[in-house]
Amino acid sequence: MARVAVVTGASSGIGAATAARLAKDGYHVVLAARRVDRLDALAERIGGRAARVDVTDPSSVREFAQGIESCDVLVNSAGGALGADPVATGEPSDWAAMFSVNVLGTLHVVQSLLPQLAAGGGGTVVNITSTAAFVNYEGGAGYSAAKHAQHALTETLRLELCGKPVRVIEIAPGMVRTDEFSLNRFRGDAERAAAVYADVDRPLSAEDVAECVALAVGLPQHVNVDQLVVRPLAQAAQHKVFRGPLFER
Ligand SMILES: NC(=O)c1ccc[n+]([C@@H]2O[C@H](COP(=O)([O-])OP(=O)(O)OC[C@H]3O[C@@H](n4cnc5c(N)ncnc54)[C@H](OP(=O)(O)O)[C@@H]3O)[C@@H](O)[C@H]2O)c1
Repeated sequence: MARVAVVTGASSGIGAATAARLAKDGYHVVLAARRVDRLDALAERIGGRAARVDVTDPSSVREFAQGIESCDVLVNSAGGALGADPVATGEPSDWAAMFSVNVLGTLHVVQSLLPQLAAGGGGTVVNITSTAAFVNYEGGAGYSAAKHAQHALTETLRLELCGKPVRVIEIAPGMVRTDEFSLNRFRGDAERAAAVYADVDRPLSAEDVAECVALAVGLPQHVNVDQLVVRPLAQAAQHKVFRGPLFER
């Protein structure tokens, strides 16, 4: 029987790339998000199964989890940022939405799938947080606060599951150029979204992050990568981004 990987946020970006990457490693992948048309298309391509879920809605997650008989790997990639306003003028509803999807979304899915993860020979939870989970930046407080909280959830879960055969892994990417992340953050303002990556020689791709997930998941079950921070070479720290050519391809 193929091992089962559940990937949230699989309709785009890091989640979609991770679903495809884990399928390549032989997992039967359950692709979860709200946009089922996109999930269906990818599921067909990689031989997985699409399932609609709104991770912010506990009853949607409960219903979704009832359809998952076994789960060896859970990747929580559903998440994102909204706005880049300073604290003084930030929109509280944006903060609430970011907390809801990044933190409560992860919580709901973990709570609902833990029985399946703990039932087999050994389960693995991978939470995609961010370097914003550790470092703050101007205009990033709402997102950073949510990612700090998602990081706290992840560390606490690892402590609480100590003694059980379930690994808890945090992958914290820096700058990743995905199609929708910055566009959603800036509410469809393509120019502002593009400026994030302007002149950065090879920001991380979704596939780069998926490779890190596969690497951590592919290690023997007794090896727990607690935290993997991954950035593009051009980004030495949150505020230290080199914009210009780096090296020949
Ligand atoms: N891109 C970056 O620079 C970067 C850097 C560090 C960390 N991250 C983190 O990596 C994760 C993935 O980011 P990405 O760049 O791949 O973003 P993305 O392309 O915008 O993907 C976000 C995914 O989350 C899903 N999603 C959003 N709200 C949801 C909800 N309520 N219920 C279920 N699914 C929901 C979306 O699908 P639907 O809309 O179809 O539901 C989509 O598949 C996020 O947690 C993000 O914070 C991104």
